[in-house]
Amino acid sequence: MTQENFSGNGLSHLSTNYDNPANVHLVNYLEIPQLVIDYIRGRQAVLESLGKWEDRIVFTALDPTENIPPIFLLKHPLDVQAVWGKSASALDKTGPFYEAVRRFAGQGLFTMKEDETWQARRTVIGPHLQPKNIAAFGEDVDRLTNQMILQLRTGGVIHDVHTYIKTLSFQITVKTLLGVDAQTDEALRVADSLTKINAFIAANTLMAGLPEWFYRKAPAFLPSTRKAVETLDTYTRQVLSSPTACASPLLAHLIAYGPEQSSRLSEKDLHDEVVTILAAGHGTTASAIAFTLQLLAYPTNRHYQDVIRKDLKRGNKTGALRLVRNAFLEAMRLYPPIYMTSRETTEDIRVETPLGKLAIPKGSCVLISPYLTHRHPQFWTDPETFDPNRFEADRGEKIAYLPFGLGKRRCIGEHFAMNVGSVVLAKMLEQLEFSTDTFSPPLFISTLRPSSHLQLNVSRVE
Ligand code: HEM
Repeated sequence: MTQENFSGNGLSHLSTNYDNPANVHLVNYLEIPQLVIDYIRGRQAVLESLGKWEDRIVFTALDPTENIPPIFLLKHPLDVQAVWGKSASALDKTGPFYEAVRRFAGQGLFTMKEDETWQARRTVIGPHLQPKNIAAFGEDVDRLTNQMILQLRTGGVIHDVHTYIKTLSFQITVKTLLGVDAQTDEALRVADSLTKINAFIAANTLMAGLPEWFYRKAPAFLPSTRKAVETLDTYTRQVLSSPTACASPLLAHLIAYGPEQSSRLSEKDLHDEVVTILAAGHGTTASAIAFTLQLLAYPTNRHYQDVIRKDLKRGNKTGALRLVRNAFLEAMRLYPPIYMTSRETTEDIRVETPLGKLAIPKGSCVLISPYLTHRHPQFWTDPETFDPNRFEADRGEKIAYLPFGLGKRRCIGEHFAMNVGSVVLAKMLEQLEFSTDTFSPPLFISTLRPSSHLQLNVSRVE
């Protein structure tokens, strides 16, 4: 088989397509038991093992005649960019994870194929999340954050800080993007439903390959998942029947979109986009804020809180906000909410990077892991250390930083998340002091989130 021939798969095919085997870790079957043991210990242990291997990790079928597509995990940022930069026709959001998300979120911007409809939808939604429109949300973000701070100002040990942040993030998302006020208990109920659905999606992803009817019927037999699905569905319908929501700029634009009635979004399309905004927007932002607080609360990092407060007291708001933003970026480097994502190749792919040539056959699964790339020792000094000052220089220079993904499918809510995250954190740190001496390991579900046992000591700043 020549290097030009990409058909078929299996070890012989792969080995003839690499001219620089030093960068490839072709997973040896003797290594699988260790990965299974790691998996039982937790997904972080699996990632730690994968982090020690070469930059290109390839899993292939035990029996090459079985025609099971290989899985490529790419860690080096230049490989990631080269493959993710491929045209829409080469990569698709298919595979077990995206199938599982589609069962709940339908066909929204996150799950759609990269076609004309996706492009048009992105053109409608995108501008509403750009800095010039986000500025108008400031008052609501301030008001809702102050409301939450009042609850925390009683001080003491706050159990599950993440829940407070998740509720706030939900309230901010629905108020600013969908024009809806959500009371704390309602926000918590819907946000919790999304967390349960998230866990179910993670389980579905792992149980890939079963008949479709199994996944469709399964929630009916799991009361808490069924209730979560019903809650999300009822809430989404409620949003779509609310006059204030339909008059909100983003939703009004989506409803009116299309030159003719026939090209307008159907009720189902609108439902799926609302679910997408709820699901993609609030949980990721909440995790990133909570991780930042957790990291700043450790004894080795508490001095950053002092610097932020001093700057705010002295009226140096720009300096304070810059450090808050850097801490937020650094927290997402260590704990990127989307710690792994995947694509399926719809054609044979060939790229050449400084690591050598890389050939990925059609039908392969390609994984990238911001969690692993963010710890790549060639690009990050002392990668395990929390150091917000890494981001003092423009982060655009950091090619090994991809918490919001990359390429055409890069996160559409990046500016919104950066803005909300920085404002919420600055307000919280101005009025409250956070500390903890215990490390609560993060949870790797379908997204990365802080432990539900996260406890922080909170005291008022006098
Ligand atoms: C800290 C917060 C956030 C993080 C870390 C994050 C991360 C990401 C990542 C990594 C992707 C790319 C996934 C892939 O290529 O497979 C993505 C896509 C997306 N995100 Fe975010 N996100 C955040 C906040 C938001 C917010 C606030 C919204 C909306 C309000 C949002 C909506 C979306 C959508 C719709 C997509 C799909 C875009 C497309 O495929 O065209 N995200 N996000």
